Amino acid sequence: MAEYTVEFVGTGETIEVSDTQTILNACLEEGIAQEYSCRVGMCLACSAEIVDGEVTQPAARGLTDEEAERYALTCMARPKSDLRLDRGVYPPSIEGATSQGGPSAADD
Ligand code: FES
Repeated sequence: MAEYTVEFVGTGETIEVSDTQTILNACLEEGIAQEYSCRVGMCLACSAEIVDGEVTQPAARGLTDEEAERYALTCMARPKSDLRLDRGVYPPSIEGATSQGGPSAADD
């Protein structure tokens, strides 16, 4: 098990997150007001832009592959390195998710 430092830019908040824990769970344990709703990787409410670092988030089904390179769904994402995240920054597909009932289904 490895521990990584996760800094939320512009907030002064920094937490330690293990690679076995989701970033959202670590935030909730530390009293950080990270937004969330579904907690299953679909609604995008918990999104944060990845400013620096890498996450693993194979179950982040609400993101396109391209978006998953730039955004973390913190309810699903676990750190693979130290991270700098910008909370409350949403991927473009959130527009479709809110106006058309969710991202289009992928056949995989
Ligand atoms: S809380 Fe819905 S995608 Fe994370």
